[in-house]
Amino acid sequence: MIIAIDGPAASGKGTVAKRIAVHYGLRHLDTGALYRAVARDTLAQGGELADSSAAAAAASRLDVATLDDPVLRTAGLGEAASVVARHPEVRAVLLAYQREFVRIPPGAVIDGRDIGTVICPNADVKLFVTATPEERAHRRFLELQAAGAAIAEAEVLADIRDRDQRDMTRTTAPLRQAEDAALLDTTNLDIDAAFRAAIDLVEAAMGNAGRAD
Ligand code: CDP
Ligand code: CDP
Repeated sequence: MIIAIDGPAASGKGTVAKRIAVHYGLRHLDTGALYRAVARDTLAQGGELADSSAAAAAASRLDVATLDDPVLRTAGLGEAASVVARHPEVRAVLLAYQREFVRIPPGAVIDGRDIGTVICPNADVKLFVTATPEERAHRRFLELQAAGAAIAEAEVLADIRDRDQRDMTRTTAPLRQAEDAALLDTTNLDIDAAFRAAIDLVEAAMGNAGRAD
């Protein structure tokens, strides 16, 4: 069983993916953490993010035991991740890890940018989670504020727009909705409502009529 979830930054895909995984007893992989960790390690090893060989070397040496490092969630590493994510060499190394992860029983919920299009084109269920840039910037702003970061909401919105642009226009595995993915717009949904809507879409895709509540 593979549930593929894609969408732009702060659309709510990670939160929904985690809850779906618990609901169905599946494993969960946040693939954004892989790119964030490659960016962290490239910088730690003294490399340039724009240098594909330095980033690919960091990807090959990546220790997945470090994917829960809280530093990965900082705003700067989101931006940095989108730079290393442009290198096809980095994507090729991480593709192998992601394919192995989803193959392990009982299956997985996996979220990112290219899961339904490239990593798991034959997933049982595909969701594309989105929300307006303003709503996504507001959510990210609240998260950063809660973490004690001093940053203006307008700056967060500018970063979100930059990252959307970079992710949607890159040559290798750009962010886009797979033709067979169901669309979930969470702009006006809180987390519980988004989760219930996601479960309805998953059940519909599997041909069931069950509900989360
Ligand atoms: O949590 P947020 O949506 O802000 O970002 P993320 O999912 O952690 O992803 C960080 C960056 O990694 C994205 O902006 C993409 O450039 C890249 N990424 C990717 O290219 N492909 C994926 N499957 C996941 C992330
Ligand atoms: O994984 P992604 O970057 O798409 O987003 P996330 O980390 O799941 O959610 C980003 C932030 O928005 C978190 O603080 C969530 O609690 C919040 N959120 C929300 O307010 N309403 C939703 N429907 C989904 C997420």
